[in-house]
Amino acid sequence: MNQFQTFQRIVLLMIGVSLISTSCSPLPHGLNDEESKIDGLLSKMTLEEKAAQMLNLGLPSVLTGSYWDLRTEVNFDSIRFADYIENLNVGSIHNTVHPHYLSDKNEWYNIVKTIQDASINNTRMGIPVIYGIDNIHGANYVKHSVMFPHQIGLAATRNKELVKETARITSYESRAASLPWTYNPNADVSSSPLWGRIAESFGEDPYLVSQMTASYVQGTQGASLADETSTAVCVKHYLGYGAGANGKDRANAIIPESTLRQVYIPPFAEAIANGAMSVMISSNAVNGIPCHANSYYINDILKGELGFDGVVLSDFSDIEFLVEAHEVAETKEEATWMSINAGLDMIMNPYDADIVKFIVDGVETGQISQERIDDAVRRILRLKFRLNLFEKPYSDPKDFPNLGSDLHIETNYQAAAESLTLLKNDGILPLQIGKNILVTGYASNSINILNGAWSRTFLGQLADFNDPSKLTILEAIQSINGNTTTTYGQGTDYLTDVDSDTVVRKARNADVIVVCVGELPATEKPSDINELELPATQQELVHKLSKLGKPIVMVMVQGRPRIIREIEPLANAILMAYLPGQEGGRAIADALYGEINPSGKLPYTYPKFTGNILPYYYKKADIRDKNWGYDGFDPQYPFGHGLSYTSFSLNNLTMSSKSISGSESLELSVEVTNTGSRKGKTSLELYCKDLIASVAPDSKKLIRFQKIELESKEKKTIQFTISKDDLGFVNSKNEWIVEPGTFRFFVGTDPNDLLETDMEYKSN
Ligand code: BGC
Repeated sequence: MNQFQTFQRIVLLMIGVSLISTSCSPLPHGLNDEESKIDGLLSKMTLEEKAAQMLNLGLPSVLTGSYWDLRTEVNFDSIRFADYIENLNVGSIHNTVHPHYLSDKNEWYNIVKTIQDASINNTRMGIPVIYGIDNIHGANYVKHSVMFPHQIGLAATRNKELVKETARITSYESRAASLPWTYNPNADVSSSPLWGRIAESFGEDPYLVSQMTASYVQGTQGASLADETSTAVCVKHYLGYGAGANGKDRANAIIPESTLRQVYIPPFAEAIANGAMSVMISSNAVNGIPCHANSYYINDILKGELGFDGVVLSDFSDIEFLVEAHEVAETKEEATWMSINAGLDMIMNPYDADIVKFIVDGVETGQISQERIDDAVRRILRLKFRLNLFEKPYSDPKDFPNLGSDLHIETNYQAAAESLTLLKNDGILPLQIGKNILVTGYASNSINILNGAWSRTFLGQLADFNDPSKLTILEAIQSINGNTTTTYGQGTDYLTDVDSDTVVRKARNADVIVVCVGELPATEKPSDINELELPATQQELVHKLSKLGKPIVMVMVQGRPRIIREIEPLANAILMAYLPGQEGGRAIADALYGEINPSGKLPYTYPKFTGNILPYYYKKADIRDKNWGYDGFDPQYPFGHGLSYTSFSLNNLTMSSKSISGSESLELSVEVTNTGSRKGKTSLELYCKDLIASVAPDSKKLIRFQKIELESKEKKTIQFTISKDDLGFVNSKNEWIVEPGTFRFFVGTDPNDLLETDMEYKSN
């Protein structure tokens, strides 16, 4: 669905809902039943019980010891457990024991069962808890689960079905551990390459982010949430988190309303159109207004315009953040009222239950209305009913034999394989087995760097929980090339030299050097950087090795596009691996040796200079150059770039009509031929440009992509249906419109070599 269609569908849904409620006819799929059960509960609940439903506590707050203690076993604190779970009947618990303990599915079962049995049997209302967890790239906090490539790699696959399958498996493996609520997908459009959470996003393009978010929601929530293998998504972080003005985590973003509607809202709209059951609010502020206090964004746009009937969850400790960081409230109590009035339904308040009292006081003193609380609790109970938690609050781990199964591992490998993006190749790749290889670099022999953050622990830096059966890049190369012909030396750490001189000495005997550079596993504040260049020491290693005159293959294990301008010409081939997850080592080695034919496409523009950072959908005036011309767009690699070991050519671009009017559509088709000698996959991408518009038009914008596979010499004709809905933009009145005029389409598998054709749109 495109952005326009998403909005149309939402409007239809809203009309449908209002027709149903005015005619009092039964709602489909037992929804009437669900709402009347909720009415029944609400009529019996005290104000305090309602406020407690709105609280989302961190698991350590019901365990012994202080919140951030390093635990090696799980022990419930009987007093806190009784207070929060049994006396308050708290609505939700999140995340893990933290950070030195990893539960398997049976241990998770015991934790969740203990909590649920108490919530249901030892409380007045018997309402189950909803347990939420950060399943960022798989059910990463469940021992033995698979850990997929991070979202940025999934976006590079351009394979929507594969993304859906990774999400389905994540749900299954989460439910295997009785964890029904996933704090993912991340629907943030990443505007700043400095941002540390790019790896967790689907990249810079709103259409790509929307499409991938939709697939992720479909895969996660399945056909029905009541199905025991589905989990509910929590799409995050609404709104503008990836656009922080200084690129830092939780930084203020400056976003005009038209851009907000054209770029940042569509992925959330698409998620909601696909039935997303909850949304997490971003910790940052947009135009100075913290999202957690922005009633216009939450009440008016999200719940109003987009018709969202699910739960709006705060991010971690964000009520305190309104006081401490944003300075828009003097006390936490005031901040609680502010955010609930802005539309928050549930507050992630990890450490204790103070907000329950604040909510009760707020209603009693008229700061928050009773209706607002009832609406919030209704949404929470709706989510619990849809997940069937009242009937089935936890799952029998025995019913989930496929956790970490070979089948899941194979999908994980496929996802990693299709994410790998070949940025450069002078013909050195694929490598020949049996040559002397020197493997070096910070990322060459580490599972943690392949997995990145959110891998068994928050930052993913501890090796304690790594699965010994998984291979690093070095180990995977050794398994193909043999130990005697593969030499190793780490060369550098993330920022410091380790043994680079020794490595250079060893490299003298090598036929080919494989340098694996990378980023420190990190997220949120710990992932902030001050400069986008790949750390100097890592670049220096490539400089030193290049002096030997041997072929260099560079593998990059990083979420962000770290600047490599100086060393790029020194490499004969460059493979971008993003954060490819647990099967990444194997997939990288298989790609280097030609077992995999790379097919990933960049999900962002890869900048060459820190002073020249633009998305591919820049405005023409942005690219004026010093000679007064328009050659100022000079990325290292463009959005959509990605080579293959075969080659593709495009022919016969045709359109069923040269013009459309009103709601007519046309068919655009093009023939793609695999002109090389081996089978390969690629993504055919279609862009559109409005040539003249009342608001300076984007250089072009992606409107379709399709992953295809072709045997050597095979041809396929691919057809796209295009309608008015693909041509729109948000005008100065903040409305989606399509202006009559000429539109140019660009289509191809290589952004540097796109075929073009024009079409007229006539208003009637
Ligand atoms: C992050 C969220 C995450 C939450 C719960 C926050 O700090 O911003 O993405 O879901 O913590 O762990």
